[in-house]
Amino acid sequence: MPFNLKGRHFLSMKDNTAEEIDFLLQLSIKLKQDKYAGLRGKNLAGKNIALIFEKPSTRTRCAFVVACVDEGAHPEYLGKDDIQLGKKETVKDTARVLGRMFDGIQFRGFKHETVEGLAQYAGVPVWNGLTDLYHPTQVLADFMTVLEVKGRLKGIQFAYVGDGRNNMANSLMIGAAKMGMDFRIVAPQSLFPSPELVKECREFAHERSAKITITDDIGAGVKNADIVYTDVWASMGEEEQIPERIKLLKPFQINRSLIDQTENSECTFLHCLPAFHNCETKLAKQFPDICEVSEEIFESRHSQVFNQAENRVHTIKAVMVATLGK
Ligand code: CP
Ligand code: NVA
Repeated sequence: MPFNLKGRHFLSMKDNTAEEIDFLLQLSIKLKQDKYAGLRGKNLAGKNIALIFEKPSTRTRCAFVVACVDEGAHPEYLGKDDIQLGKKETVKDTARVLGRMFDGIQFRGFKHETVEGLAQYAGVPVWNGLTDLYHPTQVLADFMTVLEVKGRLKGIQFAYVGDGRNNMANSLMIGAAKMGMDFRIVAPQSLFPSPELVKECREFAHERSAKITITDDIGAGVKNADIVYTDVWASMGEEEQIPERIKLLKPFQINRSLIDQTENSECTFLHCLPAFHNCETKLAKQFPDICEVSEEIFESRHSQVFNQAENRVHTIKAVMVATLGK
């Protein structure tokens, strides 16, 4: 059954039904097939898209740009030093100006209230490309990858291991609850998600017979997992906390021993990227124990991280086409 998302924002997925999420995933799969078949759409022809970035990005920025160009739209990158937002101009005024000029707005930044403010005042669809609290477009790519690898979402045993209160943990918990998964957050107690969000997700979960478990017991948390997922131990803006996070999260590193504890030889490893998995980057040289995943697992047959990264473009395209397309 088709769902009409025209004119809607995409901010946290809390206000999306399971059917709408499924619709976006099916559209992503179709758009991927079309691209592989050499069929280019013109679903966003003549549209102008603003891409606001307060934080850096490789995947999200490139996915929005490529998706726009594939569908005939013009993307305009607005970096943190390029516009007045937050320095000389309020969110409300920026939203009203950009909304007069652009047909859709992507925001990546710090406060979730900023993307909510843009959505409230812009008068055009606003898409959240990551805030401190949520990263919903990433979850669509993650779930598309799960569908490709496992063929279903409902009942999938999904273990998120690491910083249990960051934007990825929050958004995966929302999405998993909506899609009927057996979802676990495996983290030290000091990094458990907020009880308010867990309560809200358990309400979503109830409607879809999903299960939400929050535990610091690694063995129990990953047992029988179909998917093991992790993210960096310190998110953008939390760099000062790296030494403390390494101490807390070292036992939660995804390595051979943890994968063996799933007791599922077919378990899939996912990561939103960027990932620390060896000592080749600047920060990893400074903090040699920073790796949330071992090189062995990152490069193993379990890992689907580059398919997942590619799926950012197909899922972001689906969000723009569904909310803005002709
Ligand atoms: N996964 C993700 O959002 O990557 P970027 O920070 O590179 O956009
Ligand atoms: N939690 C990470 C996700 C990056 C895609 C961060 O916010 O830095």
